[in-house]
Amino acid sequence: MRAPERACAAAALVAALAAPSRAMGVQASSSCDDTPSPAGATLTPSRDLYCVFLTARPGLEGMSGRLELRTPHSPFGVAVNAAGNHLYEGILTLDGLPDPATLGNYEHIVAWLATPLFDTVVNLGPVSNGTRSVGEVSLNKFMILVTAEPRPDAPEWEGRLLLRATSPSARMSPPDLQEYIIGAGAGGGGAGMAGHDHAGMGTDAADGPWPRPSMMPGLTMFPALMALDPPAAAPYLPGAGIDPATLPLARPREVIRLGDGDEIDLEAGLVRRRIRSRDYVMYGFNGQYPGPLLHVPEAATISVDFTNSIAWPTTIHWHGLRLDNASDGVPGVTQEPVEPGETFRYEIHFKDPGLYWYHPHHREDVLKDLGLYGNMLVEPAAPDYFGPVDREEFLMVDDFLMTGDDPLPFGLERSTHAFMGRFGNLMLTNGEPDYELEVTAGEVIRMYLTNVSNTRTFNLSFAREGDVGQSAAARIKVVGTDVGAFEREEWVESIVLSPAERYIVHVRFDQPGDYALLNRVQGIDHLAGAFFQEEDRLGTVRVATRPDPGLSPASPAFDTLRTNLPAARELALLREHFDDPVDRELTFTLEASGVPFVVDRLMRFDSAYFHPVEWSGTMPMMNWNSSSEEVQWIIREPATGRENMDIAWRFQVGDVVRIRLHNERRSFHAMQHPFHIHGQRFLVLSRNGVPNENLAWKDTVLLPTGTTTDILLEITNPGRWMAHCHISEHLEAGMRMLFEVTDPAAPGGSGQVPGVRP
Ligand code: C2O
Ligand code: CU
Repeated sequence: MRAPERACAAAALVAALAAPSRAMGVQASSSCDDTPSPAGATLTPSRDLYCVFLTARPGLEGMSGRLELRTPHSPFGVAVNAAGNHLYEGILTLDGLPDPATLGNYEHIVAWLATPLFDTVVNLGPVSNGTRSVGEVSLNKFMILVTAEPRPDAPEWEGRLLLRATSPSARMSPPDLQEYIIGAGAGGGGAGMAGHDHAGMGTDAADGPWPRPSMMPGLTMFPALMALDPPAAAPYLPGAGIDPATLPLARPREVIRLGDGDEIDLEAGLVRRRIRSRDYVMYGFNGQYPGPLLHVPEAATISVDFTNSIAWPTTIHWHGLRLDNASDGVPGVTQEPVEPGETFRYEIHFKDPGLYWYHPHHREDVLKDLGLYGNMLVEPAAPDYFGPVDREEFLMVDDFLMTGDDPLPFGLERSTHAFMGRFGNLMLTNGEPDYELEVTAGEVIRMYLTNVSNTRTFNLSFAREGDVGQSAAARIKVVGTDVGAFEREEWVESIVLSPAERYIVHVRFDQPGDYALLNRVQGIDHLAGAFFQEEDRLGTVRVATRPDPGLSPASPAFDTLRTNLPAARELALLREHFDDPVDRELTFTLEASGVPFVVDRLMRFDSAYFHPVEWSGTMPMMNWNSSSEEVQWIIREPATGRENMDIAWRFQVGDVVRIRLHNERRSFHAMQHPFHIHGQRFLVLSRNGVPNENLAWKDTVLLPTGTTTDILLEITNPGRWMAHCHISEHLEAGMRMLFEVTDPAAPGGSGQVPGVRP
């Protein structure tokens, strides 16, 4: 299913576009500067990843330059193209350039972008002292060069080199010989497997040795890494000793339409799942995969009687809803875990239109991954809120980790894969490895996408079989995300969604034939220090010829980009806060101890460069071996030095809080974090200091490595709420915090938090 195209990395690159240099206002704060803005901020984006300093050629020391890799606009947490190359706007600042004529027979100074092997060379146009945009930069590894030239528009430089630099990603290289010897020679040096007691889950835990995860086909690793000891936990799979044939075969999800005041039963239990004609014991809600889709009108309240029929204690969290705190489903915070055999009643209020989902909030890395997840659609009260379409589809995208024909066991006492999260190698859409959708050419389809994976960030697009390039792709328009609609509709090449994020898109397949739903990213081969194009297939859309000529009813509206007035009006209420000073700051980082020697050495070597998003699991052994015994993921408040559950934030209903979220690049292993806040909603105001020009309410935001993201949190809902990274293994390894919201206007008036004793 994985076919990494190991063609020369550069050949797979999409060429950088040389947009004509425009003089531009450089109002946005720059990641090349050390001065944080607005007021109140102390944290800045990583210079090391988003700013390149140019070096003058010997003898030309008076000259200097820098290239800021500025975050361009994107409705997603990170800007990439359909192939998964990261996109930046290059902001070039030059100083001390002489008149080119004084350097020889030259009339112009020209900037260039090139791959390290010069198989792609882009003329960025003539430049001079000062600051300008040089357009889009999308190369994986590149060099920036400034030369003196006789003419401004040559395809390659011919003149004299003045300044040059390589991209931060170019620091990534194969480990050197010494590292290789350490890596190849040392034994496993495991994490200490002595005396695990398999507490708690005795009954249906699998016994026996750990099977080993498989390497991604086409990639290799050091022998010593392949020989690592298993993680510090016993292997667990559900249903040991149970013959799958005795369990009911899971059914595809059904849609449950509900009105205000309705009640339903939801039961988590064992199911038999048939995947590519083999049977597995997994979990399901009401015997379905995914769980039932709850379809409710805006402003409704329903009750759910939840029964726990699995062997783990658990709860259900109703992700993204601004509901009553007592029904938020966070064990130890809003309720005690529901023990096996017990029930719990949730009252669920649907305040905002949009797409939501529910999942357990206890050992999510196991329970959600084994099938406990479902969508909720809150039908908007405003007519045509998301715009007209011909039909609607729901896609929950996931990756499941197999080793050979079987799932790789989970850690019983604690989660495995604590470093990068449990990347899977079997792509699932709505729980199916071979998802199929049949549509008619020209139909407009509203797709509701939810990423339910433990850690993978997807970059999804539709490509017509046998064709290549953008012209063969289905057109995609983004209309909404976590908590409702965007202010403005936008065309996109692909859809980026990190764990727990939702995006609502309108898609039209213009040509009959088969389209593949693809996840296309730039993977990293750590042993070679190189990028490679990785492509996973998540399903097929079979497009039938339109029986009658002419357009589908929704087609004319699809062709235009509209402004969503109800959404824009609601956002305008907070506009006065968009320039507020920063109230609070958080840093996302990692501490590790007791990591096996060989892993420690290689990971330190690897930290020369971190990609903004770790798109795939190309270090499966090191990752598998790590658990929360060795790895602590940390949210730190720099102002107080407090970490994770010691962070004691208090707010009042009515507060509007600007929070700066900084994903620290200088850590043992930096990577992205999808940060989720319970019970409230927020806006993403800026990324790396660049204002966001198309807003929508969110409950989860992707924080790429080394970036700063400013959010505006609207405090509307009293209670004791959690905020955390939605990578399941990071949550398990500590990356979570609480905040309390009091309501001064509540009956009693003294600002008590419901359910919390002062
Ligand atoms: Cu979807 Cu606290 O999580
Ligand atoms: Cu995380």
